[in-house]
Amino acid sequence: MKVDGKHFRTIWLNEDGFSVDIIDQRWLPHEFRVVIVETVEGIATAIRDMWVRGAPLIGVTAAYGVALQMREDASDAALEKVWHELNETRPTAINLRWALNEMKRVLLPLPVAERAQAAYRRAAEIADEDVELNRSIGRHGLEVIKTIAAKKKPGERVNILTHCNAGWLATVDYGTATAPIYLAVEAGIPVHVYIDETRPRNQGAQLTAWEMAGHGVPHTLIVDNAGGHFMQHGMVDMVIVGTDRTTANGDVCNKIGTYLKALAAHDNGVPFYVGLPSPTIDWTVQDGVKEIPIEERSADEVSYVQGKAASGQIAVVRISPENSPAANPAFDVTPARLITGLITERGIAEASPEGLKALFPERVKSAA
Ligand code: MRU
Repeated sequence: MKVDGKHFRTIWLNEDGFSVDIIDQRWLPHEFRVVIVETVEGIATAIRDMWVRGAPLIGVTAAYGVALQMREDASDAALEKVWHELNETRPTAINLRWALNEMKRVLLPLPVAERAQAAYRRAAEIADEDVELNRSIGRHGLEVIKTIAAKKKPGERVNILTHCNAGWLATVDYGTATAPIYLAVEAGIPVHVYIDETRPRNQGAQLTAWEMAGHGVPHTLIVDNAGGHFMQHGMVDMVIVGTDRTTANGDVCNKIGTYLKALAAHDNGVPFYVGLPSPTIDWTVQDGVKEIPIEERSADEVSYVQGKAASGQIAVVRISPENSPAANPAFDVTPARLITGLITERGIAEASPEGLKALFPERVKSAA
């Protein structure tokens, strides 16, 4: 997508041909910074400390991390080591393990001397594939928006609520939850997006709002607790979110607070959709609440907030008493029964084993 009129992806190969350029998202919306990462340790830090974030982008970044490793040492032992090192950086987003497995699948059968080149090639392909998956999700999600728009008076806008950032910044380009929104805008459908601020790290306020503003999408930032109120008053036509891991049963793990939005949507008859590229499906797990590991992040993310001070400096301020402990589970699980549909690259699946099986028969057979 565009930043000040120039097209950017969130990650790309540096012109030196080996290091990796990323948008360092920690400073948005106040500063747009691109940084160059040259080592596996740098990649691990960028993922763990959320310079890059969002399940699909985490996966692509890890794939480039493997490529950087292969350039230094492409032995089986080094491949195994980098797999473990990067897999531990963020435990919930399954795209990370998916991408690392994919790199291993491609590289292990090759002679050591050929692995570095093949690793860069496959990492670039995974990035390109992500863009295509999101475009397809966009096309299928657009049909849902069109159907809602068709029931409205001419010119009346479709109100969409989203949580966290499942936009282009969370992927390589377009986003999952946002791709249908961008396509709806392109198609001339009047849309308006309610953006949950998404405490503790405020990905909604800092990233989704920046994306929507950058692309001229009408939007309103709301506090996390306001969504239920807007739904009760008929001001939300649909909810669309992303996911970090979806089970074979259709349970959806996503940013903390998603579950509460799904409950409010269910209580108010508001359709609740999830934008979902297939690498985010973990075919090996069934019950999301019992089986998905939930990343526990630093309590400081709850106790402090970052913003731009009146001086123009980016500042971090404490918002709670010095001695109040805080807990910070980064994700929660929305049970399949609360989900209207999973918008995948192959179409919209019912959130159920049968629904996913119908769209991905080959993956269910191999359960991998
Ligand atoms: O902790 P984050 O910012 O990586 O969490 C991101 C989300 O929860 C997104 O909704 C999810 O990764 C899907 S991104 C297309």
